[in-house]
Amino acid sequence: MKLANRTILITGGGSGIGLALARALLARGNTVVVTGRNAAKLEQAQRDTPGLHTVVSDITNEEEIRSLLMRIEVEYGGLDLLVNNAAILNSYDFLGQEDHFSLLEQEVATNLLGTIKVTRLALPLVLKRPQAAIVTMSSAVAYVPAPSLPVYSATKAAVHSLSQSLRQQLAGTPVKVFEVAPPTVDTGLVKGMGGAKLSPDVVVREIVHALEHETYEVRVGQVKALSLANRLSPALGARLMARATASDHH
Ligand SMILES: NC(=O)c1ccc[n+]([C@@H]2O[C@H](COP(=O)([O-])OP(=O)(O)OC[C@H]3O[C@@H](n4cnc5c(N)ncnc54)[C@H](OP(=O)(O)O)[C@@H]3O)[C@@H](O)[C@H]2O)c1
Repeated sequence: MKLANRTILITGGGSGIGLALARALLARGNTVVVTGRNAAKLEQAQRDTPGLHTVVSDITNEEEIRSLLMRIEVEYGGLDLLVNNAAILNSYDFLGQEDHFSLLEQEVATNLLGTIKVTRLALPLVLKRPQAAIVTMSSAVAYVPAPSLPVYSATKAAVHSLSQSLRQQLAGTPVKVFEVAPPTVDTGLVKGMGGAKLSPDVVVREIVHALEHETYEVRVGQVKALSLANRLSPALGARLMARATASDHH
């Protein structure tokens, strides 16, 4: 896919990997709209990133998704690339407190249901384009769960599965379906975690390369070895994940 003169929506693009991707795509001459719930964060991103368009929009709120997409159609004339990037992460201990349910429901509502709703509601727009794509951020934990992040891991495994189904359902349409699985990346999402962290720019380089070369499942960095090891031996996969998350501070 040629990445210039495109209209691109990145959910949760006011920080982290999404913002780094927005900057790379702006530099290539695209129109980039990023969303998030926090208006102040988006204003800061806009001040720091000339040319960036921002819209306050929550992916768990169907009305807000609909009005965002209507605005993109009216103001920018359509949509070529949707990046399902917004997500939240909570650690959870099944042997710990019970009163964590509202946070966990929010996690499923965002990472899984939000991704499904934005994808479904954006489809009529991307299907109008001769060449379009949907990119969804999954994670290493889609392949091997991080035991301290059971619900987050489950949502990312679900998003991985969902991307496979969507890719098959959209075969024969102009919309290509990409899934990006990074290892731990240095963003606010994992600020409480220890261990090695990749720079968001490394992930962005792999996303851009994958879009340009039509590599639909993008396993970033150590995730290539992790998913292969896990396929050969799930016990080995679990050991590698345990080692990678051993120094977590939560
Ligand atoms: N960092 C990692 O180690 C890592 C590894 C693998 C995969 N990923 C994935 O990469 C993606 C980007 O994460 P990141 O690391 O760049 O973290 P991040 O900086 O926290 O970015 C996530 C963004 O999502 C937004 N968001 C959260 N809930 C939202 C909602 N309901 N509606 C709209 N926006 C919402 C947040 O903004 P507001 O708070 O303003 O809404 C935030 O800007 C996520 O899908 C994450 O799961 C990250």
